[in-house]
Amino acid sequence: MSTTDIDEGPDRTGDPEFERARARVEELAPEITAHRRRYYEDAAPTVSDSQFDELMHELIDLETRYPELKKNDSPTEQVGTFSEAFAPVTHLEKMLSLQDVFSLEEVQTWADRITAEVPGERYLCEVKIDGLAVDLVYENGRLTRAATRGDGVTGEDVTANVRTIAAVPQRLAAADGFPVPSLLEVRGEVYFPTADFERLNESQVAAGKAPFANPRNAAAGSLRQKDAAKTAERPLSFIAHGLGVLQGFEPDSQSHSYAALDAWGLPVSPYWRVVPTIDEAFAYIEEFGGKRHKLVHEIDGIVIKIDDFGVQRRLGATSRTPRWAVAFKFPPEEVNTRLLDIKVSIGRTGRATPYAVLDPVRVAGSEVEFATLHNADQVKAKGVLIGDIVVVRKAGDVIPEIVAPVAAARTGDETEFAMPERCPECDSVLAPAAEGDIDLRCPNARSCPGQLRERLAFATGRSCFDVDRMGYIACAALVQPLEPAEPVLTDEGGVFDLKMDELLPIRVVVRDPDSGLPKIDEKTGEQKVVTPFARQPDKKTGEILPRKNAEEMLQNLEAAKSQPLWRVVNALSIRHVGPVSAQALAEHFRDLDRIAEADEEEMAAVDGVGPTIAAAIKDWFAVDWHRDIVERWRAAGVRMQDEAPDPSEALPQTLEGVTIVITGGIDGYTREGAAAAVKARGGKSSSSVSKKTGAVVAGDKPGSKYDKAVQLGVTVVQGEDFDRLLEHGLGEFSSQSEESGDGNEPE
Ligand code: IVH
Repeated sequence: MSTTDIDEGPDRTGDPEFERARARVEELAPEITAHRRRYYEDAAPTVSDSQFDELMHELIDLETRYPELKKNDSPTEQVGTFSEAFAPVTHLEKMLSLQDVFSLEEVQTWADRITAEVPGERYLCEVKIDGLAVDLVYENGRLTRAATRGDGVTGEDVTANVRTIAAVPQRLAAADGFPVPSLLEVRGEVYFPTADFERLNESQVAAGKAPFANPRNAAAGSLRQKDAAKTAERPLSFIAHGLGVLQGFEPDSQSHSYAALDAWGLPVSPYWRVVPTIDEAFAYIEEFGGKRHKLVHEIDGIVIKIDDFGVQRRLGATSRTPRWAVAFKFPPEEVNTRLLDIKVSIGRTGRATPYAVLDPVRVAGSEVEFATLHNADQVKAKGVLIGDIVVVRKAGDVIPEIVAPVAAARTGDETEFAMPERCPECDSVLAPAAEGDIDLRCPNARSCPGQLRERLAFATGRSCFDVDRMGYIACAALVQPLEPAEPVLTDEGGVFDLKMDELLPIRVVVRDPDSGLPKIDEKTGEQKVVTPFARQPDKKTGEILPRKNAEEMLQNLEAAKSQPLWRVVNALSIRHVGPVSAQALAEHFRDLDRIAEADEEEMAAVDGVGPTIAAAIKDWFAVDWHRDIVERWRAAGVRMQDEAPDPSEALPQTLEGVTIVITGGIDGYTREGAAAAVKARGGKSSSSVSKKTGAVVAGDKPGSKYDKAVQLGVTVVQGEDFDRLLEHGLGEFSSQSEESGDGNEPE
């Protein structure tokens, strides 16, 4: 940028802050313009919307502080852009954009400014559809032209493409009170229905094409096809949200115009609402923020408009945006970052699972560095390459996942992921456990340190022996120490025989808990090494004493030997056996030896077990070293039988025959504990909701099971009422207390 490009202003040359601002503006302006071109012309943005917004707001902020840095062609002065691939058309009336805000305080400030000028106005709230803006012209009721927004003044002619969208009427219908106007310019959003998006990406990948990063890109890519027949193949839809020129009919408000559009056969959003106060607009924001992923299309915020057209005219607009509307943008849930690597982890049953190592990025309120990729087929299906810029989001707002690569950002240096042939932990050759299995497994089940560490952490964890102070680091130290050369445990059989003098000499490399990479001591430049069970040697005597945690760990191991049988069964890490089937087995057989000796049919007949689990148990006990684990635990004093219950102590069977599904966390209960409590009351705990489900208990952060319950009309009990449900049964929560469920086993 030359200095002649910069508006006159106070001479701040030399002021270091100003110089920094100038340098940043010179960086930002071309960067934003390039992003804009990729977004509008190529339908292939390389940054997420929120990242784009951030750059834009940084530039607006700098230009506000230093107006002399604002060039006439600054991207902050433009609304979109257009390409030459389609014929240019001039909109009858300029298409404005919206002022974005990112907090409720900013919405309040906007409302206060309006209230100061025109008190008591009503607000029309609606969702901000994440699609592609188009402008449709109807002359005497016939669709004559459709254009993209372009720069707001001139757009691209996409009439042939828009004609293929079933939701867009070719002719307007007349209705009572709504005569067809002689000229109508209507604005709205072309969108790609969320439900169809995944299917589209699957077919893109299958055809060897790059998947779309999100439904909006899919909408843009589908609409802006030179061959309209290709657009016709895509399930695009349309929702109108505003007017340009209108002749032959005069609506007096935004809501009146929506009634008119609807009467003429143009789709309007089913979600708009007129509210009398800004507080109610806040409630609308909260309501739709909660269901943003449950609508037919994606939304990226809420638009609040002044309903009255007279007041809209009075408030007017800046060169870019109207003063009578504001867009509250949701915090980003999808961001772009680089996929640095794909690594493979080994689970407790030996399954090799690829996971993504990402350039750390904040998504939905937390830093994300890793994302699971499930299996090699999924890596292929997602079409991601190592080195790609990828779109990351939190699935169900909790677990990070890669949505898709940003193919437009590829440089050619990206590399394809290949599943390793050998276990990254023990170098054994990976193979499917059975013919036709998708998953590869490490066959070195007994002493692969990865598998053993995971099994040990599971067996001593909350759903099994529940050994406090025996965390993941302790388990890793026992199976994979730096010293001694031979690990203290070579399988989980010896866990109850651990002695303090074996623990004290153990030294381990300190690893980053997320990446698993060794931590480096900044002073020495060498790997950090610690003794996890021993304190530093006494400076005078050289005596090595145990850490308090290590002492407590051994005490807790001792106490864990008397845990009930179902926890012992669960701790064996038998494939397909989870806490529910372990409880069913323990209740039926009451003795581990009887389980080991039972024939498959008897086991399969136990409610909550079935043939797959029965076969897995048989297979497990057929392995010598598995039986040795049981014998070593027995010899160490682990309880192998449950007493027959004393009928006088049995809890009232308040949930007899009732199937309960639990979703989300319940205060005071682990997932297994809650299932056990249902069982103790004669109920059945299931993981899937059907019409036969007696009730769904919705705890903290309930999942999709809650939605399904609402959909099917199944009784929903709030997490805090769980104890009341156990004590009194379903009665007070519903009139229908139905029989049996579908028996699905949570794993
Ligand atoms: S009203 C002058 N309402 O968001 C008012 N726009 O970021 C113009 N958009 O250009 C727009 N949903 O393409 C309006 N319910 C909605 C919308 C909406 C999506 C788009 C529209 C606009 C862009 C601004």
